[in-house]
Amino acid sequence: MLSELKRLFAIPGLAFEQGDGGLLRAVVNTPACHGELVLQGAHVTSWVPAGQQPVLWLSQKSNFDKGRPIRGGVPICFPWFGPNAKDSSAPAHGSARLVEWQVVSTLSKEDGAIAMGLATSIDPFVLNFDVEFGRVLRMTLRTELSKDATSPQSFEDALHTYFAVSDIRTISIAGLETVAYIDKVDQAALRPASGIPIQFAGETDRVYVDTRADCLLMDDGMKRVIRVSKSGSVSTVVWNPWIDKSKRMADFGDDEWPAMVCIETANVAAGRIELSPGESHATTAILSVEA
Ligand code: BG6
Repeated sequence: MLSELKRLFAIPGLAFEQGDGGLLRAVVNTPACHGELVLQGAHVTSWVPAGQQPVLWLSQKSNFDKGRPIRGGVPICFPWFGPNAKDSSAPAHGSARLVEWQVVSTLSKEDGAIAMGLATSIDPFVLNFDVEFGRVLRMTLRTELSKDATSPQSFEDALHTYFAVSDIRTISIAGLETVAYIDKVDQAALRPASGIPIQFAGETDRVYVDTRADCLLMDDGMKRVIRVSKSGSVSTVVWNPWIDKSKRMADFGDDEWPAMVCIETANVAAGRIELSPGESHATTAILSVEA
């Protein structure tokens, strides 16, 4: 499998290797950036633009095991978000992050970015994930409902991006000031728009239900602003587990919570997507570092 991947898809700036836990991964090293993607889950685990600190956060306690989720980077949540509404034994955030994806294409682009295409299927959907590692990180999850499906089907998705931050207590996130949200730390109450950028003083788990806006992650401690742009996404989820929830998660270090925040490009809850047989939908997130 590894030798086959190398033979068919390795190109200058993109190598394949066996990573932690024996999981196969792609490693990008170009003048523009360093990047890593684990084939299980088509899971981006690292993106470091040249001259910058790592943009993505990855837990020191993450599992790297066949069939278990990785804690950090960009898990792909599909075809549901959070617990399964009908089956509590089904995996949280769906099975896309747990299954092996196939590499279908690799390409070195004119602007120096490395583009990879990956595919899998989760019946009755066919999934394609296109990622470009360059000065920006561009990710598109394309979902097609099989032509053979007998009726329309709906799904939720999320590019569940974990960002590294200097200290959650000093950062802020702009872009969602005018958007109402579901507050998952308060019995899923619907809260009105706050009118101000998000600041963090406790466990935060919010689904901003109806927004196509960019977010700006402002981090004075790291002297950077990260822009999260998106298309094909009507929801944004913002999450930090804070102290108690961190302790309850075996794959999340007790003291790691100050160093991360999730801004998730999503279609969830009322924003779930319905497709007719043969139709497709693309959800795109574009990350860039500003001054
Ligand atoms: C977030 C959810 O997107 O993911 C949280 O809003 C959840 O409620 C978090 O705790 C992590 O989920 P998991 O399944 O990766 O532990």
